[in-house]
Amino acid sequence: MPIRELQTKPYNDQKSGTAGLRKKVAVFQQPHYLENFLQSIFDVETSLRGKTLIIGGDGRYYNREAIFTAIAMAAANGVAKVVVGQGGLLSTPAASHLIRLRKAGGGFLFTASHNPAGPDGDFGIKFNVAGGGQAPEGLTTRIYEHSKTIQRYRVAEGANLDLDRRGLQKLEEMEIEVVDCVEDYSALMQSLFDFDRIREWIKKGGTLRFDAMHAVTGPYAQRILVEQLGAATNAVMNATPLEDFGGGHPDPNLIYAKHLVDLVHSPASPDLAAASDGDGDRNMILGRGIFISPGDSLAMLAAHLDKLPGYRGGLKGLARSMPTCRAVDQVAKALKVEFHETPTGWKFFANLFDAGRLTLCGEESFGTSSSHAREKDGLWAVLAWINVLAVTGLSVREIAEQHWRRFGRHYFARHDYENLSTATAASVTQALADANAHLPGKTYGDWTVTQADEFSYHDPVDGSIAVHQGLRVVFGDAARIVLRLSGTGTEGATLRLYLERYEKLETALGWETDSAVAPLANAAEQIVRIGELTGRKAPNVIT
Ligand code: G1P
Ligand code: ZN
Repeated sequence: MPIRELQTKPYNDQKSGTAGLRKKVAVFQQPHYLENFLQSIFDVETSLRGKTLIIGGDGRYYNREAIFTAIAMAAANGVAKVVVGQGGLLSTPAASHLIRLRKAGGGFLFTASHNPAGPDGDFGIKFNVAGGGQAPEGLTTRIYEHSKTIQRYRVAEGANLDLDRRGLQKLEEMEIEVVDCVEDYSALMQSLFDFDRIREWIKKGGTLRFDAMHAVTGPYAQRILVEQLGAATNAVMNATPLEDFGGGHPDPNLIYAKHLVDLVHSPASPDLAAASDGDGDRNMILGRGIFISPGDSLAMLAAHLDKLPGYRGGLKGLARSMPTCRAVDQVAKALKVEFHETPTGWKFFANLFDAGRLTLCGEESFGTSSSHAREKDGLWAVLAWINVLAVTGLSVREIAEQHWRRFGRHYFARHDYENLSTATAASVTQALADANAHLPGKTYGDWTVTQADEFSYHDPVDGSIAVHQGLRVVFGDAARIVLRLSGTGTEGATLRLYLERYEKLETALGWETDSAVAPLANAAEQIVRIGELTGRKAPNVIT
């Protein structure tokens, strides 16, 4: 089985976005496309030589082919050992954990997260570095620049690997270990949460429903919730990972998991309903008759986390991405812990975790996690909620209402305008950027603008500065409008408009989010004029 060096020509579109390189499957299927990108990583990140590399994916179409290619190229590029999930599966948080556990040089995660899968769907790769987090921006930029000049790649030919057989195999000098995808992850969860307490809660009648949406979390939820914690066999829905995710859209939110919203509003509601996304890093939490918005979930977990075994020492710090509602800020203030507001995307949290300045963080886009991994972790959030229910003896609704009474309530909605032309999207952000200087002092309805600017982030750990991280119009603590361009889309440009309204009054508890943020949506239209500039009457998706 010779190691061969093959000629190639550069593609010029291999720039990683918020969550790695994400493209249509057909793009990845072009000759040498994947090879070029992987070789660019091996050429730039030379520290992978002689190290362990973790490989896995969310099981979507093209996962296996990509993994075979990656293994054959790793063998030809001096990697000492590859650890790969059985069947090619590893959830994103489980892969992040394995990188840390095995002190690996890095990992390749084949996923396009919640984007639809199948031959016409999306594919993607995330390169994570030693430490378990996504490659930092400087590194992905260097990989991109290199990919534009690449002329050759290295591959071990004729490999005959069995991804379904656990244990050791060999390719050239390189060792390949196929591992159970759940085992190490579930051990980690057992070290963080009180499994005995949860088992007891379930025995006493606590009920769960988790939708794996035919994506990667199926085997994880089945093993942990049903086999280890004793949940009913029907507690996990759509547990078998499928290459096309069953034709669905595994994005756990009010649109794509509407059946769960309907379920919790029916007499058949479980005590806790939840879902995760394609690669297992997102989470959605619902209780009987109630949906917990991700910003609230973060704040509520922050308020209760020190009751859970892995966090008894208290919180080192809390953080949220800039567009996420400011509910957790109130908790940080009350607990007197360090607090950070970061740009969108998980990688900004990783530095804070590594520096020991952060315990829990989250994003409005259904992402929550703690210092146990360097990725957001869907099942972790679900287990944290179950553990909180078991420890407090309260229902999801009681936890929420107690929280809002103490801290006030943040109503939050995100309006997405998808598939715009780049020029149209840019005209909207430009219009707001131009207006910014004149906004402070202006009044819209009950609110007066106190600040209007473009967010940039000064990383307190490595000193780097990230600019152009979204435009914001702030009305003191009372409300906020944020506008930014998505960095994960694969078709056209997507604008995201985030609306946040804060109410301290108990009378506000019963409002519906839509009506609570409606006046803010009007203010946004006056200020940003999205409807007028895009010609769209309404957003495509509201979450
Ligand atoms: C979206 C979310 C962001 C998340 C990312 C990866 O990115 O908004 O919070 O980190 O997916 O899951 P966006 O498309 O907005 O750039
Ligand atoms: Zn994801």
